[in-house]
Amino acid sequence: MIMSQSRHFSSLLTVLIFICLVCTVSASPSLHPDEVKALKDIASTLGVKHLNLSEDPCLTKTLVITQDVLKGHNSTIRCDCHFNNNKTCHITHFILKTFSLPGRLPPELSKLHYLESIDLCLNYLYGSIPMEWASLPYLTSISVCANQLSGDIPKGLGKFINLTQLILEANQFSGIIPKELGNLVNLEGFRFSDNQLNGSIPQFIGNLSKLKRLELYASGLREPIPDSIFRLENLIDLRISDTTAGLGQFPHIIIKNLKYLVLRNLNLTGPIPTTIWDLPNLMAFDLSFNRLTGEIPANAVPPKYTYLAGNLLSGKIESGPFLTASTNIDLSYNNFTWSPSCRERKNVNTYESSQSKNRLTRLLPCSAISQCQNYSKSLHINCGGPDVTIENSRGRFLYEGDNYGLTGSAMNYHGKNWGFSNTGDFMDDGQPEDAYSISSLSVVWFTLLSVSSVSAKYPELYQTARRSPLSLAYFAFCFENGSYNVKLHFAEIQFSDEEPYARLAKRFFNIYVQGKLIWEDFNIREEANGTHKEVIKEVNTTVTDNTLEIRLYWAGKGTTIIPKRGNYGSLISAISVCPSSESECGVEVTTSPVTKEHKPRTYPLILGIAALILSLTFMIFGAFYWKKCVRNADAGKRGSFSLKQLKVATDNFDPLNKIGEGGFGSVYKGRLPDGTLIAVKKLSSKSCQGNKEFVNEIGMIACLQHPNLVKLYGCC
Ligand SMILES: *[C@@H]1O[C@H](CO)[C@@H](O)[C@H](O)[C@H]1NC(C)=O
Ligand SMILES: *[C@@H]1O[C@H](CO)[C@@H](O)[C@H](O)[C@H]1NC(C)=O
Ligand SMILES: *[C@@H]1O[C@H](CO)[C@@H](O)[C@H](O)[C@H]1NC(C)=O
Ligand SMILES: *[C@@H]1O[C@H](CO)[C@@H](O)[C@H](O)[C@H]1NC(C)=O
Ligand SMILES: *[C@@H]1O[C@H](CO)[C@@H](O)[C@H](O)[C@H]1NC(C)=O
Ligand SMILES: *[C@@H]1O[C@H](CO)[C@@H](O)[C@H](O)[C@H]1NC(C)=O
Ligand SMILES: *[C@@H]1O[C@H](CO)[C@@H](O)[C@H](O)[C@H]1NC(C)=O
Ligand SMILES: *[C@@H]1O[C@H](CO)[C@@H](O)[C@H](O)[C@H]1NC(C)=O
Ligand SMILES: *[C@@H]1O[C@H](CO)[C@@H](O)[C@H](O)[C@H]1NC(C)=O
Ligand SMILES: *[C@@H]1O[C@H](CO)[C@@H](O)[C@H](O)[C@H]1NC(C)=O
Ligand SMILES: *[C@@H]1O[C@H](CO)[C@@H](O)[C@H](O)[C@H]1NC(C)=O
Ligand SMILES: *[C@@H]1O[C@H](CO)[C@@H](O)[C@H](O)[C@H]1NC(C)=O
Repeated sequence: MIMSQSRHFSSLLTVLIFICLVCTVSASPSLHPDEVKALKDIASTLGVKHLNLSEDPCLTKTLVITQDVLKGHNSTIRCDCHFNNNKTCHITHFILKTFSLPGRLPPELSKLHYLESIDLCLNYLYGSIPMEWASLPYLTSISVCANQLSGDIPKGLGKFINLTQLILEANQFSGIIPKELGNLVNLEGFRFSDNQLNGSIPQFIGNLSKLKRLELYASGLREPIPDSIFRLENLIDLRISDTTAGLGQFPHIIIKNLKYLVLRNLNLTGPIPTTIWDLPNLMAFDLSFNRLTGEIPANAVPPKYTYLAGNLLSGKIESGPFLTASTNIDLSYNNFTWSPSCRERKNVNTYESSQSKNRLTRLLPCSAISQCQNYSKSLHINCGGPDVTIENSRGRFLYEGDNYGLTGSAMNYHGKNWGFSNTGDFMDDGQPEDAYSISSLSVVWFTLLSVSSVSAKYPELYQTARRSPLSLAYFAFCFENGSYNVKLHFAEIQFSDEEPYARLAKRFFNIYVQGKLIWEDFNIREEANGTHKEVIKEVNTTVTDNTLEIRLYWAGKGTTIIPKRGNYGSLISAISVCPSSESECGVEVTTSPVTKEHKPRTYPLILGIAALILSLTFMIFGAFYWKKCVRNADAGKRGSFSLKQLKVATDNFDPLNKIGEGGFGSVYKGRLPDGTLIAVKKLSSKSCQGNKEFVNEIGMIACLQHPNLVKLYGCC
């Protein structure tokens, strides 16, 4: 069985599903012949390799297309079939996403007269928006995010007066936002962040009274931010951050429906208006990195996610927001005071929340730590993961893990002499509780075997990373004064280089060491020249007050929606700090030296149990796939492989390529002639288990889809 980053089987799944639909829909209406013809032109302009119209797309609700990359495979066609006595259909929704289509936006879409919605996000399209679309009378939604579209935003878009959605984000549009767009008074969603725009924020935005969401993250647009946008009463989601000159005065906000409010790093001054605490629906509230002063009223009920880091807020920390345990509240880097009875609380981040004279209590107010017993001279952290032991010429050294099942979007953790403070919520990922640790491990389910995919001297350090959508600080206390060499280890393990559209992803963040900006707009992939490659950044620093701090900050730049919404922020794999005089240092590990260095780590039992339960669930599916797989054995190059091909790919199952042992066979690393890295699971003839298990496993792998799980690629 061969597994790789492909969704070959998910495409089979699609096939399976629409076969069922064909069976259940009788007396079928069909797509108007003119639109069938238009579809062919549209596909050709988009760069679709092969369009298969043997089934009516209005019946199958999908376009069957062939592309080199089929990973995403998200095409949806919706039709209105009430024409000509329910016999003729017209396309109303045209959605083709994540196909990495290499062509242009098709002007021919204007031939689909009844079109209401166009969604071509997450492709690789170039050019600009065709003005022909303006002739579509029912068109209300244009979504072309995450492509390579460029040039000026066309003035002609002002003619699309019925538009409610205009989503242009993550492209390369340049120039100013034309004032003609002020005619689009029906807009509810207008997103243009992550482009190369210039000029000022258009005044007319404050006149788009139906607007529900406005996002201006590091837009590059200049001030002033029109006051009128804070009166757009239909806004649900308002996010402004990191603009050059800032906002200054806190705006008067009277928008009742607001659910998300981000006013980050805008140089806001003065107290937080008390009316903010009364907004009934507010769920996420981010005022971090401004210069806000004053106290939070004792009776204020903070929203579920509240970030107030990096201000000058004062007052007793244990009154007010501290009392509301149900919220994740970040009070770090402020000017609060506290009384001796104050205790640390989960989900209340108090790191550096005071200006106390005592460095240690300033760092960790409300903690029991108030003086140092002894001082350390080195720091080694495996970010987002477990303890890891590294072997070098000087011995075996421990990188302490920071992954203790911590959750919460405003957490601070500290152990004996180091800790971290991680804040922010990935608001668009659709998950109420985010995971801040990510893993590059490809886990073959069932065999519970792990494969590291980062090429580095010490790949173990890059198997996991900690990420943060706002601010992430690692700190050490009771650290000996002196000069140190800090090494920061990075690898881009969240993005991939495989598909063209995924290559459009850009991550930028800033790195501060001891409060000093060391790297601005740091881009791991660029520095490492690729994903899953290590890059180590080194800086010399001094410790003068027995504390050390390394802080990463996401300043709103880069993409946020590729390959999925919520993929952004800072990311770090490991940290090592040694005195300047020593090139290697650390806490030596003295346990039995016989353990193998690259021992594959097994996953906790619970995963195994879950896998077993799921395997039963998918048994039936498995049987289907097995049949499909056999039937398709000759159909496509990807589905089926000969034993000879696999021998070539794995160097005749060379023991050197063995990466693990599963329940009923060994797993080998291999490479196909086209360069695709694969894992090959060879069924053992000694195993008493057989076809049934094989079928189950296929079913499982085909159905389970997760960034950290390998995909089934084919069989032999
Ligand atoms: C088109 O798709 C149908 C199933 O929908 C399949 O049977 C047929 O072989 C496909 N044709 C081509 C040329 O791929
Ligand atoms: C496909 O697109 C639709 C509509 O945009 C969306 O609801 C759905 O979640 C997407 N499916 C996948 C697998 O991305
Ligand atoms: C068309 O179908 C709808 C239900 O989908 C039905 O209400 C309507 O009467 C049909 N019209 C004709 C002309 O058959
Ligand atoms: C906007 O919608 C109205 C009513 O649906 C329609 O009459 C008009 O032609 C549309 N205008 C444009 C420019 O599409
Ligand atoms: C931005 O616009 C100004 C004038 O409006 C122009 O001088 C400048 O070159 C533009 N910058 C970029 C990067 O296009
Ligand atoms: C916004 O609307 C007001 C009143 O409707 C109008 O006076 C003003 O000119 C408009 N501003 C812009 C920039 O369109
Ligand atoms: C922030 O605002 C103050 C005035 O309130 C101004 O003096 C200062 O220059 C601003 N800082 C930045 C970085 O724009
Ligand atoms: C911090 O708060 C105290 C009052 O609690 C105040 O005297 C002091 O000026 C504040 N410090 C800063 C830097 O604002
Ligand atoms: C440092 O002090 C702690 C107690 O605070 C103690 O457990 C530890 O053994 C000490 N370490 C050294 C190297 O003395
Ligand atoms: C970056 O990687 C590409 C291939 O992935 C290679 O062609 C290029 O030379 C590399 N650039 C540098 C600066 O190493
Ligand atoms: C740090 O200091 C060492 C000497 O102590 C020097 O060799 C090294 O180049 C310095 N690194 C950086 C990044 O400045
Ligand atoms: C480190 O330096 C600070 C400031 O110079 C001093 O107060 C402190 O006692 C020093 N710590 C140690 C352990 O020498």
